[in-house]
Amino acid sequence: MENTAVPEVGPTRRRVVELFLGSSMFASLVSFVYPLLRYLVPPPVADLGGDEVIAAKVGDLKLNAAKIFRFGNRPGLLLRIGEGEYRAFSATCTHLSCTVQYRTDLHEIWCACHNGMYDLNGRNVSGPPPRPLEKYQVHVRGEDLVVSRKREA
Ligand code: FES
Repeated sequence: MENTAVPEVGPTRRRVVELFLGSSMFASLVSFVYPLLRYLVPPPVADLGGDEVIAAKVGDLKLNAAKIFRFGNRPGLLLRIGEGEYRAFSATCTHLSCTVQYRTDLHEIWCACHNGMYDLNGRNVSGPPPRPLEKYQVHVRGEDLVVSRKREA
């Protein structure tokens, strides 16, 4: 009697290829769906407690310097423009919501997205921004620079 049994290589090889393709498809699907879900359900942002935040310590800022701080779920911009003179604004550009920055060379607030400019009072002075930046109040409380939203009277 002749041994005609062929070793069963085919199904095993086929199974390996199926597993490889299946796991590749799964990984591809996850790589497409995960960013979409993260976009639709953003991570929780810590609420820093209402209308007040400690933006910096008194010694943190040099003269003619600025610092971005977190105010709730938005960025704020704290400026030191004189000896003991601070100003704070929302750092969200009123054009398309880019984050603005302080230009120490120009002494103005600048939005890099479309070259929008604001003066040191937060007024839009050039470029596409349609409105001034929201202005905040700054108080020195001990060693802390406390920024709060302006309350309407
Ligand atoms: S987003 Fe700031 S100028 Fe356009």
